[in-house]
Amino acid sequence: MRKLLMNLLVLLALATSLVRGDEDFLREPPDYIKECKIADKDFVNCSTQSIQQLFDKLNDGIPGLTSIKSFDPFHLNRIRISQGNSNAINLKVELANVKIIGFGHTKVLESLVFKKDYSWKTTFVLPVMKLHGNYSLFGRILLIPLNGRGQVFLDADNMTITMHTKTRLYSKGGFTFYNVTNCRVDFKMDGLRSYFSNLFNGNKQLEDSTNKFFNDNWRMLADALYTVITQTVEDILLDVLKKIFHFIPANFFVNDIPTPEQLYGKVKPKPK
Ligand SMILES: *[C@@H]1O[C@H](CO)[C@@H](O)[C@H](O)[C@H]1NC(C)=O
Ligand SMILES: *[C@@H]1O[C@H](CO)[C@@H](O)[C@H](O)[C@H]1NC(C)=O
Ligand SMILES: *[C@@H]1O[C@H](CO)[C@@H](O)[C@H](O)[C@H]1NC(C)=O
Ligand SMILES: *[C@@H]1O[C@H](CO)[C@@H](O)[C@H](O)[C@H]1NC(C)=O
Repeated sequence: MRKLLMNLLVLLALATSLVRGDEDFLREPPDYIKECKIADKDFVNCSTQSIQQLFDKLNDGIPGLTSIKSFDPFHLNRIRISQGNSNAINLKVELANVKIIGFGHTKVLESLVFKKDYSWKTTFVLPVMKLHGNYSLFGRILLIPLNGRGQVFLDADNMTITMHTKTRLYSKGGFTFYNVTNCRVDFKMDGLRSYFSNLFNGNKQLEDSTNKFFNDNWRMLADALYTVITQTVEDILLDVLKKIFHFIPANFFVNDIPTPEQLYGKVKPKPK
């Protein structure tokens, strides 16, 4: 009877620690991450492979990391963007119910980590990136006045993304972790097909000719939607990176990473 009670208590404690997800993190280096030394000459090569392995693993899910429900397809509830004030670009866009396909086939070209502040510059390609969602749009694209809502499909070829990530190191359980605080992206692509349904409240002819115009001038459309696309990608990456790096110690990526004290010096307690 006593034994049963003890077992129950242990189970309860376990369950509680699992529910408090943010307390949970990896304590053993997983076999799907290559450890690198930033002091080594071939660090960039090593780190590039390491981040590639991480992306590959994300595809079927990182064991124990339940807060990332799905990476490919990735779902975003809502995103709102106002941009520009020039002639070509003056736009309010809202996307809802967004599904993005393609992050699972990411090819990492280069992963740089800067010793000075442990920020990163990561370059990768999504050979295929498809976005589908509900849109509402008000403003001008390529001088065409628009005021519509419906479904949008975007289909980009070879989207090459350069990601600039800011981090702040912190200690947890004897490890150094990255607190990913900011993520900014630039991109280019080799092609963009698009389709907006119901662009002109049901005027099918105008809708068709405008969609054709967008596809014939996809580079200009990509420029016009630049902020919408970067913001969408940044929202996804920041969310995913934060979750991963609160879960996996930075030591498992860079095994000679300094402690926060070593990097920032002794932290003076801030007056509250
Ligand atoms: C990185 O890897 C590439 C190809 O695998 C190789 O050509 C290059 O020499 C490596 N660079 C370093 C610094 O080891
Ligand atoms: C998205 O569009 C579909 C089809 O028009 C509609 O049924 C659904 O309610 C919309 N969802 C949102 C979140 O706007
Ligand atoms: C991470 O940084 C954010 C600010 O960007 C801060 O609010 C949060 O407390 C930090 N988390 C940890 C674990 O240091
Ligand atoms: C995408 O990149 C690959 C490899 O560089 C290339 O073979 C392919 O033609 C590119 N796709 C497009 C649509 O340009």
